[in-house]
Amino acid sequence: MSTLGQRISIHTGDITRLAVDAIVNAANSSLLGGRGVDGAIHRAAGPELEFECRMLNGCKVGDAKLTKGYRLPARYIIHTVGPVWQGGGKGEAGLLTSCYRRSLEIAHIHDCRTVAFPAISTGIYRYPKNEAAVIAVGTASDFLQQKALPETVVFCCFDDETAELYRCAVADLDKRLT
Ligand code: APR
Repeated sequence: MSTLGQRISIHTGDITRLAVDAIVNAANSSLLGGRGVDGAIHRAAGPELEFECRMLNGCKVGDAKLTKGYRLPARYIIHTVGPVWQGGGKGEAGLLTSCYRRSLEIAHIHDCRTVAFPAISTGIYRYPKNEAAVIAVGTASDFLQQKALPETVVFCCFDDETAELYRCAVADLDKRLT
């Protein structure tokens, strides 16, 4: 198995363009689309996506559900609902951790070799980007140490500032693991 550092990568760009087995959507509990990355994914996937989402009866915060990718280059979309930041005292960290873990479990069950995540909850839901990056990288690292699939986790950042936070989080993790 390749080293952990080789199994986590940081990419800056639009997640809807990634030809990976699954992209993760930062959805809301209705699963019926929204703005931000949710809006971009629904626009790029096309109208069949909403039709499938309507059959899923929503999704709880911290949970995740899978659909097909439709017109996206990705085979699947894993929709997860992140917590709205309320200052940190309402279990937000545990719920965000659960988003990453549940999404990775679903990717594993569906034999996904590559899965790409946006920075869940750090936009409209206002989760502090640095704390969110540490949770994302730490949760992915814990999961990948237990499982061979997914082989690779891509953190797809929409801007360089976010990408830099993820690179620092990965570097700090590598220091702790060596
Ligand atoms: N590709 C990759 N990342 C993106 C893209 C994109 N095309 N568009 C936005 N992002 C980034 C944002 O810059 C942010 O870093 O995704 C991250 C998450 O931001 P949001 O999309 O605002 O998601 P979130 O903060 O989880 O809020 C979810 O927003 O769109 C609604 O329906 C959604 O109610 C839900 C809420």
